[in-house]
Amino acid sequence: MQHDERSTLPQPDAPSAEHSERVAGFIRACIADAGGSLSFAEFMQHALYAPGLGYYAAGSTKFGAGGDFVTAPEVSPVFGRVLARQCAEVLADVTNGAILEYGAGSGKLARDILETLARLDTLPDRYEILEVSADLQERQSRYLQAELPELASLVSWLDRPPENHKGVIIANEVLDALPVERFKRSAHGVKQLRVEVDGDGFRMAGAPAPENLLQAVLAIEEDLGGRLPPGYTSEISPRLAGWVSTLADSLQQGLAFLFDYGIARREYYADERSGGWLRCHFRHHVHDNPLILTGIQDLTAWVDFNAVAEAALQGGLDVAGYSAQAQFLLGGGLEAEMREFETLPLPSQLELSGQVKTLTLPGEMGEHFKCMALRRGDVRNPSAFSVGDRTHTL
Ligand SMILES: C[S@@+](CC[C@H](N)C(=O)[O-])C[C@H]1O[C@@H](n2cnc3c(N)ncnc32)[C@H](O)[C@@H]1O
Repeated sequence: MQHDERSTLPQPDAPSAEHSERVAGFIRACIADAGGSLSFAEFMQHALYAPGLGYYAAGSTKFGAGGDFVTAPEVSPVFGRVLARQCAEVLADVTNGAILEYGAGSGKLARDILETLARLDTLPDRYEILEVSADLQERQSRYLQAELPELASLVSWLDRPPENHKGVIIANEVLDALPVERFKRSAHGVKQLRVEVDGDGFRMAGAPAPENLLQAVLAIEEDLGGRLPPGYTSEISPRLAGWVSTLADSLQQGLAFLFDYGIARREYYADERSGGWLRCHFRHHVHDNPLILTGIQDLTAWVDFNAVAEAALQGGLDVAGYSAQAQFLLGGGLEAEMREFETLPLPSQLELSGQVKTLTLPGEMGEHFKCMALRRGDVRNPSAFSVGDRTHTL
């Protein structure tokens, strides 16, 4: 159930509030054009990606302490350093391999990976970034020029997935940023949750689910072996399969590492999760009302990793591993990276150790975040899955 979180959330400053009003006005016009309502996925698409307006498309700080949320590369360079060791393993098995990162955020992960590969003397010729937000592309470019002037020439931005990518693909918290549909089960059918105008704001309203959403819910229920209970509300990511399929088409040989907070389908649609997995992030406060702070808060939904695996298999990839982030890091070279701390001054060692705890403790990012690796061709099993591979739980 939604409740009004506005009283407990920080107030946006005046420019943010004005910006939010512009985004809300744009969406109200879209709702009018569409005849009175938008599907939740359409609303989320506009709120996050409307050109020049949406959360990821406009200029506010999103990542890190001054933004709305932190991601693993924002928490610590150790995340990228361990991932770089996994990239090195793949690149050793692939001739002329490159790295392709989807949705590179601030650019920090690219910096940490390139720095580490330079240290390990395993730099690829190219590090490509595919980023839907023009504003973020510009920020990433400025950041990498400033932070890594000697390696920045390796980095280029693509406007579409490459045709024959060999090497590594990385996506950290991209799947959770794809717009989701929301649905509600009733005793007699399935409702699609749609967004309508409500005075100056928005409200959610149910309408009979269109055929594709109905079939998607029925397919999930068949897989679960029973109907979801009446009143059960949750999400489905309609773009996820297409996104994975495009990735599969691109990957000629190598591995894709997809990180996100998510779980297996059985847990995703467990009876006790009857409110779904949509989350909103504003100034480090997490809440569940997507209809406020339009365009200035992040909207995200946890990932059903069975859906990722199914789309991957459909696209001819195999699942090379699936584990919690903590196990991925432990198996993937965390210890070796931590040995590098020993030469640093004590305050830096303590700071990095604290960051490692945030990345690995189960109550922090260690358990909720998962990594799924997808493979095409002759590439060895990533060492990161040598401990705690959970592929068999899917
Ligand atoms: C939650 S942020 C994560 C940013 C970064 N990977 C990190 O971990 O800090 C989601 C990112 O994915 C990008 N994005 C969303 N949909 C995308 C898509 N279809 N292709 C590429 N990037 C996408 C967003 O613009 C944003 O940069």
